[in-house]
Order: sequence, then structure tokens, then C-alpha cells
Amino acid sequence: MNHRISVTWKLFLAVVFTGVAIIFLLHDKISHTLTKNVRYWTQAGHTIPVSNNLSGQSCLTSTGILDSFIRAHSNIDNWRRVTTDVYVYSAYWDDRDRLERPSVVVIAAGFRKSKNLSSIECVFSNDTNSKESAANTTFEIMKEHHHKYASGIFFYCQPLFDKPSLYVTLKLKDIVDNIWIPIRKLTYDTKASVTNTTALCVRPIYGNLNISQSLAEFIAYYQAIGVSHFSFYNAGIANATLLFLTQLRKNGISITLNSWDLTEDLRSMWAMGQMAAIQDCIYRHMNYDLLVIVDLDEFIVPQKKYKTTLQKIVQDVDKRLANKSNFLWGSYVFRQTFFCVEYPSVNVNKNGNFNLITQTKLLHENKIWPYCDRSKYILRPQMVKMGGIHCVLKHLPGFKMYLFPSRSALVHHYREGIRFCKNKNVSLAVSNRAVLTYRQEILNSKALQTWIKFIKS
Ligand SMILES: *[C@@H]1O[C@H](CO)[C@@H](O)[C@H](O)[C@H]1NC(C)=O
Ligand SMILES: *[C@@H]1O[C@H](CO)[C@@H](O)[C@H](O)[C@H]1NC(C)=O
Ligand SMILES: *[C@@H]1O[C@H](CO)[C@@H](O)[C@H](O)[C@H]1NC(C)=O
Ligand SMILES: *[C@@H]1O[C@H](CO)[C@@H](O)[C@H](O)[C@H]1NC(C)=O
Ligand SMILES: *[C@@H]1O[C@H](CO)[C@@H](O)[C@H](O)[C@H]1NC(C)=O
Ligand SMILES: *[C@@H]1O[C@H](CO)[C@@H](O)[C@H](O)[C@H]1NC(C)=O
Ligand SMILES: *[C@@H]1O[C@H](CO)[C@@H](O)[C@H](O)[C@H]1NC(C)=O
Ligand SMILES: *[C@@H]1O[C@H](CO)[C@@H](O)[C@H](O)[C@H]1NC(C)=O
Ligand SMILES: *[C@@H]1O[C@H](CO)[C@@H](O)[C@H](O)[C@H]1NC(C)=O
Repeated sequence: MNHRISVTWKLFLAVVFTGVAIIFLLHDKISHTLTKNVRYWTQAGHTIPVSNNLSGQSCLTSTGILDSFIRAHSNIDNWRRVTTDVYVYSAYWDDRDRLERPSVVVIAAGFRKSKNLSSIECVFSNDTNSKESAANTTFEIMKEHHHKYASGIFFYCQPLFDKPSLYVTLKLKDIVDNIWIPIRKLTYDTKASVTNTTALCVRPIYGNLNISQSLAEFIAYYQAIGVSHFSFYNAGIANATLLFLTQLRKNGISITLNSWDLTEDLRSMWAMGQMAAIQDCIYRHMNYDLLVIVDLDEFIVPQKKYKTTLQKIVQDVDKRLANKSNFLWGSYVFRQTFFCVEYPSVNVNKNGNFNLITQTKLLHENKIWPYCDRSKYILRPQMVKMGGIHCVLKHLPGFKMYLFPSRSALVHHYREGIRFCKNKNVSLAVSNRAVLTYRQEILNSKALQTWIKFIKS
């Protein structure tokens, strides 16, 4: 039975994939996808001069240094199939004050049109003997559009008593497979407003990114503006890139690498399950004051001539706009513009041996995109219920999103193949030098120093 279903899935998947691929090619939307990102980084000439027998396959079973890196720094959560059409990644005991009642939030994914979803129930356990059905199970499909076959799904499980069990699973019609997901407790500081720690979530990535220098630039830049921790989801990152991440960690840069082994069914999720990864990242980093949600080619840049941090620009907004001492915005949205990477580089000789995209590509299209359309955001994890790709989709009651004016801060998005840039009418482009303020920090960064050592070794 399972076999037959999985054949149907595959067939359906193939048809959907072909259809979607055609539609995307026609609409130039393929640029949205991770594949395109990877291609961009490749085209931008950021080469990784190590032997490249690297394909996009998962390295989780690898041995030696990579393996110990992964074991030491990864969470043990990963995708597991719990019913015919649903997989679970992780589960959290969500007892935040502003919720009516605590519940277990299960981050899952599966066939979003399945009629089975409404019959699925949560089951709790503390050991292999005890089992207890939830008093109430509800689900919510993560809003991903794009007509994908599979989607991220939240299951909310209400226990009989407001106390967490150790494990949870999902069952359909009394069939309980013995696949128990540990329920993680949220760690957070209820006085978050007085701390200012910032973490950054990167969506699932894979392959020989061919980007390790760009990765170093990305980390260097975000550290310069106040990010202290980086969280990656490994959907099959190539060994060379993993090795580089290992070196970064050895040099004191705080990075976690989360396993993200998608089955074939789940690979049809938008951008390798970006939405589910965002939700997991939010729950996993409840102890941080702020979380930055961006892709590897996106840089949130304060538009000031002096150095500042993300914490500072957010605090300034809170001070200016709060009318109650305890009021805080739940998230902060930044509009974006595309920078033309195919235009000639400037200031190349000011960057030592590095080919820094942020420091050499200063011209962008003459358009600033609207809020929640390609924009990126910073959120306060304790105040968010569902993150999105371009802005928060649901806050906890009482919190809203703050729309950052583009003259204060802007997402610099470096991407090849944008229509505006292809026209090559440089006179129409807009010059933006704000990011040059951080050149020295980037050049002196541990991340770039690590890169230099890495390519020499
Ligand atoms: C990496 O990029 C360089 C130049 O952009 C290219 O020649 C090389 O083939 C790329 N390597 C891989 C494995 O994609
Ligand atoms: C790449 O792999 C092939 C076989 O899989 C091997 O013959 C070749 O030597 C490898 N190249 C490098 C540079 O490691
Ligand atoms: C990564 O390295 C391990 C051994 O360290 C090897 O078994 C595995 O095949 C490599 N993966 C890729 C994609 O090259
Ligand atoms: C719902 O679950 C049943 C039993 O596991 C399965 O036979 C059926 O195919 C599932 N429905 C869908 C739409 O996958
Ligand atoms: C597990 O233990 C907690 C408290 O220790 C209890 O409230 C809960 O009901 C137990 N769960 C099950 C399934 O027995
Ligand atoms: C289950 O939870 C939902 C959402 O919180 C609520 O609307 C519904 O009334 C609950 N059902 C029961 C039986 O408690
Ligand atoms: C965090 O806040 C403290 C006090 O306001 C400040 O001294 C410190 O520089 C801030 N850290 C960052 C990274 O902004
Ligand atoms: C704070 O602002 C909200 C909406 O902006 C308003 O409804 C409320 O009355 C204000 N409270 C105070 C104390 O000014
Ligand atoms: C570039 O844009 C300017 C301003 O719109 C226009 O005058 C000029 O003709 C354009 N040049 C080309 C080569 O299209």
C-alpha cells in the first residue's frame, strides 16, 4: 500500500514539477529559487579553489572531521515520516505568556491537500509504555503559495493537562508508529527587551555553493552590524563548504548547522521547505532578542554614514514610537532593491585580495520594492506565531510589524539577471555607498581571515 502511494506521489510530483518548471521559465520566476541563488554565486566569480568532486548530496553520513562537527553542533532533529502523508521535523512546548493556553507546536510537512490532515491526532508519551491522546489537535498549513505539492504544516496539540510530556507523535486512525519526537522546551528571557542578542537564520542550503568567500563576506558583514549567531539548515551542503563552516566555528564564530534531510516527497516544498525552516528557527532561538531572516545574497544595510548595529536601529524605533513602557514591535520590515552584479566593479584595489561583492557593486535598479514583496525582516521571536519569507505572517496578540523607511535601512540584494540590469543603461541606475561604512570591519573580520587560511591549506 505504501509502495503504491509512493509511486503515485512520484508520478504526480513529476507532472507537477514539469508544469511548474514551464510556468516558472515563462515568467522568469525561477530566479526565486535556491538553484538560481547557487547559480548566481557561481556566476559572480567567487571561486572555491579546492578539489571539486562535490555534488549536492547530503554529508550527514560522512566520517572524520565533518562528522564530529555535525555531531557536536547539530541538533538531533530531522525529518521523519509519521503518517502516510505527513513528516515531522521538531516539536516545542509553547508556553509563552500571551497564549491562552500552552500547547505543543509540531513543525511538520506533507501533502497539503490531503483530506487526512483533519483526522490526524497528537499522541504524547513519557516513555515507551505511556501513551495519551491530545485533548485537541488542530493544524494550520503554512502559507507558501506557489502551487507546490507539499507544504509546511503546523500541528497544535493541546494536552489534557497544562503539563508537557517528553515526546509527541502524530497518528491517523489508531495507527501509532513508534516514531517519537522529543518535545523541546522554549528557553527565553522574559526581560528580552533589556538584552540585545541577535541571531540570523539562513534557509535550507545545499550543494557546492561555490560561495565560500561570499559566505565569509556575508558572515563578516552581519557580525559587523551586531549578529552574534548564525543558524544554517543543511539540505546537502558539499563537503568543502562544510569544512569551511568547521573552520569558521574553530575560529570562534557561533554557527549551528541543523540537519535538513528531505525525502523526495518533501523536496517539492517551496525552496526546500524554507517556511518550515523559518518556523523551526524562530522556536529554536526564543532565547534571542532579535532574529534576522535573510538569504545569503541579501544584506540589510543601515543607510547611515556612521557605523551602527541592527540592535541599535531597532532600539531607536522602539524608543521613538513606544507609548507604553512595555510595548515593542514584534517585527521590523526592510524594503529591498536589486544591485546589478553584472555592472563593472569599483574600488577593487581597496579590498586587499578579496573580491567583495558588497564593496564593489554599488549600483542598484531605480526601484525600491514594496513592503512584504521581496522585503526581509527582523523579528522578536517571543512575539511571533508564524514567520514568513518576506514579513511576519502572524504575531502574538498585541504585536505588529514596523515598516522601516527605506531611507533608514534597505536590503541590498545582489543577484545577476535582473531585467533592469540586463538593459545595461547605467545612467538609470542609482548609486548607494552606505555599505562602504563597514569595509574595514569586513576586511579585518575573522571570517575573511579564516577564508584566507582555508584556501592556503
Ligand atoms: C565555481 O565557479 C567557477 C567560476 O565562477 C567555475 O569555473 C567552477 O566551475 C565552479 N565550480 C563548480 C563546482 O560549480
Ligand atoms: C574526482 O573523482 C574521480 C572519481 O570519482 C576521481 O577519479 C578524481 O581523481 C577526483 N578528482 C579530484 C580532484 O579529487
Ligand atoms: C564527503 O566526505 C565523506 C568522507 O569524509 C565522503 O564519504 C562523502 O562521499 C563526501 N561527500 C561528497 C558529496 O563528496
Ligand atoms: C490518507 O490515509 C490513508 C490511510 O493511511 C491512505 O490510504 C490515503 O491514501 C491517505 N490519503 C491521502 C490523500 O494521501
Ligand atoms: C508525562 O509527565 C507529565 C508530568 O510529569 C504528565 O503531566 C503527563 O501527563 C505525562 N504524559 C503521559 C503521556 O503520561
Ligand atoms: C480545539 O481548539 C480549537 C482552536 O483552539 C478550538 O476552536 C476548538 O473549540 C477546540 N476544540 C475542543 C473540542 O476543545
Ligand atoms: C547591547 O546593549 C548594550 C546596552 O545598551 C550596549 O552597550 C551594547 O553595545 C549593545 N550591543 C550591541 C551588539 O548592540
Ligand atoms: C498607545 O497607542 C495605541 C495605538 O497606537 C493607542 O490605542 C493607545 O491609546 C495608546 N496608549 C497610550 C497610553 O497613549
Ligand atoms: C538610458 O536612459 C536614459 C534616460 O531614460 C535615456 O535618455 C537613454 O536614451 C537611455 N540609453 C539607452 C542606451 O537606452
